[in-house]
Order: sequence, then C-alpha cells, then structure tokens
Amino acid sequence: MKGFWGGRRRRLAAGADLQDIPLEARPEHVAIIMDGNGRWARKRLMPRSYGHRHGADNLRTITSAAADLGIKYLTVYAFSTENWSRPREEVEALMRLVVEFCRNLDREMEREGVRLRFIGRRDNLPAEVLTTIEETERRSRMRERIQLIVALNYGGRDELVQATRALATAIRAGEIDPDTVDESSLADFTYMPDVPDPDLLIRTGGEQRLSNFLLWQSAYTEFRFTSVLWPDFSAEDLATAVRDFAGRQRRFGGHK
Ligand code: IPE
Ligand code: IPE
Ligand code: MG
Repeated sequence: MKGFWGGRRRRLAAGADLQDIPLEARPEHVAIIMDGNGRWARKRLMPRSYGHRHGADNLRTITSAAADLGIKYLTVYAFSTENWSRPREEVEALMRLVVEFCRNLDREMEREGVRLRFIGRRDNLPAEVLTTIEETERRSRMRERIQLIVALNYGGRDELVQATRALATAIRAGEIDPDTVDESSLADFTYMPDVPDPDLLIRTGGEQRLSNFLLWQSAYTEFRFTSVLWPDFSAEDLATAVRDFAGRQRRFGGHK
C-alpha cells in the first residue's frame, strides 16, 4: 500500500514532468477502460474481489493525478451491461465497492474538487447503489476542478438505443421535426450531452478492444493500449500517456 506522502510525491513528480507541455496540448477529457483487476489478483493467488478493491483504490490516485495534470473530465468504465454475466458473488462485490467508494471518499473528493457523475442504466441497479450514487451526484454537483464520470451498468449500444427511443418519443410528441434530425439531435439524448467527446482513451490490461464503451463519443478519440493491469497503472503512466497524446497529430479527416 502506498503511504499518503509517497503517493503525493509521485503525483507532483508526474505533474512536474509535463511542465513543457502547455495545457491546450493536453487532453481535456480522458476515458479509461480499467481492465485487469482479476488477473492482478490471480497473480497474487487472491480472489478477484481483492483485485477490484485495489482497482477502486487506484481510481482515487488516478483521479487526483488527472486533476493535477489539468484534465477536466475523466470517464472510467467500472461495470458494463455485459458484466452481469459474471458470478453473482463478483457482481455483488463490485456493487458493494461502488457504495463504499462513494461513502468513504466524499471528504477526499471534496478536498480535490471532484464532481462525481454516473452514466449507464439505472433501472436495474440494486436500490442501495441507486440511492448512493444519486446522493453522491447531488452532494458533489457544485465542485468543478475535475468531473469523474463513472460508467456503471453502461453499454455504448444500450446508450444509443435509449437515445434513439427518446428522440423517437420527442418526434411523436411533435417536439422535433424528423426532417431536422442531425447528429446533434441524437447526441442531445446521450448520457452526457454537455461533456466534450474524449480526446484520449486508455485501456489497461492488454486487450485492444472497446468492449462496448463510448461507441458514439469515441469517433475521433486517440487510443492508447497498455498491458499494465489497472491496479498497477500509476500517475506516471497517466503522465506518459498525456505526453504521448500531446505529440500526436489529429486531423479529423482534414489534412495538416
Ligand atoms: C476490470 O477487471 C473490472 C471490471 C470489468 C469490473 P476485470 O475483472 O475484467 O479483470 P480481468 O480482465 O479479468 O483481469
Ligand atoms: C470491460 O472489461 C469493462 C470494464 C472494464 C468495466 P471486460 O473485462 O468486461 O471486457 P472483455 O470481456 O474482456 O471484453
Ligand atoms: Mg477484463
């Protein structure tokens, strides 16, 4: 376990590393697929839930590091619409962790100026999880140093189906003329229409796929895949990813 000061020194070192990179060249919105908790635990001959606990701890470290680096939005994949297919004990352990994360970290998140938001389906979440995340969102809504957006029971296809349904309902009600429907009409019904698309998406754990994350929003996102398992992903790793991002040329279909 990292001591508080050890973690802090590392964070400052990571931020200091990037002094030569102006804020405009850094990503405003970083998305992370936090993968590899199970393998991290297995390497230590421990149950998967042990890996998830260390993964949740690491989310605190990385959220603080992201804020120090000037990142304004951090969207993390915590539980997909497909993750319900895991054994019941693992799903329960993950849901318990969400509740603990919200309850135990409120003070720390307040000190760090973190606003918490959740995206994903809410209709089939356990009641305690639902009330906890709603309360956390309410309590943190005035904080503005960084937004931590947690994708919980989230699926990119599901988001698009829900958005399409809401758009169709608005059309049927006569609120929207179908002939005027464009990309922004659909985007307006996604979970976070006010948040810019992610500039950089990082996946830990070695797999190189989206696993149904942010399908709509990642149209022009820069990708970075690393084999580092999520509980080991450090503030330095994040700073390295930001440095690499700053050196990329984004063309958005144009040239130069
Ligand atoms: C990611 O770690 C966390 C969740 C999907 C909830 P995994 O649990 O997928 O870990 P691996 O991929 O099996 O190592
Ligand atoms: C993606 O990881 C979802 C989260 C990190 C929450 P998975 O471990 O569920 O993805 P697959 O099954 O390897 O594609
Ligand atoms: Mg996995």
